[in-house]
Amino acid sequence: MASTNDENGEMIVTPWEVKGKVDYERLIREFGTQPLTEDLLKRIGVVTGNLHPQLQRQIFFSHRDLDTVLDLYEKGTKFVLYTGRGPSGPVHIGHLVPWIFTLHIQKKFGTRLYFQLTDDEKFLIDDEATLEQTRNYAYENALDLIALGFKPEDTFIIYDVKDIDLLYELTLEVAKRITYSTARSSFGFQDSTNIGWVFWPAIQAAPCFIHAKLTGENVPALIPAAIDQDPYWRVARDVAQKLGYHKPAQIHCRFLPGLGAGGKMSASIPETSIFTMDPPDLVKRKIWNAFTGGKGTAAEQRKTGADPTVCSIFQYYFYLFEEDNRLLFDRERRCKTGELLCGECKNDLVIRLNKFLEEHRRKREKAKDEIERYNMNR
Ligand code: TYM
Repeated sequence: MASTNDENGEMIVTPWEVKGKVDYERLIREFGTQPLTEDLLKRIGVVTGNLHPQLQRQIFFSHRDLDTVLDLYEKGTKFVLYTGRGPSGPVHIGHLVPWIFTLHIQKKFGTRLYFQLTDDEKFLIDDEATLEQTRNYAYENALDLIALGFKPEDTFIIYDVKDIDLLYELTLEVAKRITYSTARSSFGFQDSTNIGWVFWPAIQAAPCFIHAKLTGENVPALIPAAIDQDPYWRVARDVAQKLGYHKPAQIHCRFLPGLGAGGKMSASIPETSIFTMDPPDLVKRKIWNAFTGGKGTAAEQRKTGADPTVCSIFQYYFYLFEEDNRLLFDRERRCKTGELLCGECKNDLVIRLNKFLEEHRRKREKAKDEIERYNMNR
């Protein structure tokens, strides 16, 4: 099942909804994925040198068939990367988590990336959305991807509506092999679900095989993404071998939380999300309103310390804005002992975030001149 709902109705993780406190150990069990082991991390480290902070910190925590991909790689068979975005609105910092990691893997392993922008999906699942809106967001979101530093030589952006001719044969091959009953139990479809949406998962599965189909090079795809996308890969894996392709492998990350108490960063709660286009004063306001592990008064906090484990601000440092482990642990320690108060910690983050976003927007502007170099047909 895509959605795992506990007895109290607290945790929901589907490609379209993530709610409540996410229990990642439970997801590994229920989704049937594997934890990232020390052994696998070592094997990645042999290629990358120092492990990426997202691996050291277990932000990427689970996988499927990563061992098989590494076995092949060690014997000289490359893999391709595949990831994507549903262009329902602007990009937030949470989306950047798997993309930054993808860029790292791409550089270190010298692999090609296929990046899917699902303007069709977002049109189908949202009653209000128009194709014009989702196409515009696809363009805007592609700028954010390119701004991170992906190079056109190795990066191929698929805009579903425009590029459907490249995906359609594969989509049909996949769709023919998924029964309605599997789709319903994997994605939770209801009688009221429109039939476009019911068919749609085959389109997200198709890019798993697009490299093999277009180039004749039958190498596996490795998909870095948060674990919410997992139901797609289960159906893609079921059909891969019937089609004569490798099963797509995955490496799953956790969700960057929102700035409220609990829950992932989600575009549907904009006041607790930082978007790449948020101006500096808005970033400052959102950070200052964020939920922390602080105490009622400064005096009390100095005396008893605060709790970084529940603090949304600390998660920002942990996920993206403090790469140096020594400095991260020191921040954690000073928080716990009451040496560091929430105001100072928030201020530091506002400065770091705004610096990052200013630079990101400069690169994003530049990307407008280059975006066509990333097209599938070039
Ligand atoms: P979308 O647009 O919901 O999300 C894009 C990517 O961001 C991840 N993500 C997050 N990661 C960390 N913290 C968060 N708070 C957070 N929120 C979202 C998602 O897991 C995803 O990797 N249907 C897909 C688009 C798609 C796709 C793919 C995604 C098409 N092909 C292949 C991944 C891999 C979607 O709507 O993603």
